[in-house]
Amino acid sequence: MITLNINGKAVDVDAAADTPLLWVLRDTLGLQGTKFGCGAGLCGACTVHLAGSPVRSCQTPVGAVGDNAITTVEGLSADSSHPVQRAWLEIDVPQCGYCQSGQIMSAAALIANNKAPTDADIDDAMKGNLCRCGTYDRIRTAIKRAADLAGGAK
Ligand code: FES
Ligand code: FES
Repeated sequence: MITLNINGKAVDVDAAADTPLLWVLRDTLGLQGTKFGCGAGLCGACTVHLAGSPVRSCQTPVGAVGDNAITTVEGLSADSSHPVQRAWLEIDVPQCGYCQSGQIMSAAALIANNKAPTDADIDDAMKGNLCRCGTYDRIRTAIKRAADLAGGAK
């Protein structure tokens, strides 16, 4: 049995230590906001926060998580009030939506540490998150709006 700290709650899961965190989140715990894209660390659809940093949950063995806090898109806020979620709604970012929880998690990690991200900051933080629908321009706009909502540069 492995005890995980997910979205502020301690959860016991019966999983082999080498099981990808993504499978535990989706299949064991039913947290299906985190998506399976490539399964190879290449697309970012499976991005969650581990101790506040974005990680690819498809490449993270559950046994390596330890006591570090895991936040999934379901844990960003209880009511879609996180600045990134508000900005995403305001800018109407998603197209098909499949990549978007991963995009949101990478964006949330960025603005947690940078309240006035430049285009270069955004490119660097988001380069591992692919969108086959090409929503990149709206993502950039929404990240800047989220930073404003979070109290950054006006
Ligand atoms: S599913 Fe994890 S990076 Fe693509
Ligand atoms: S919105 Fe369709 S893959 Fe990004």
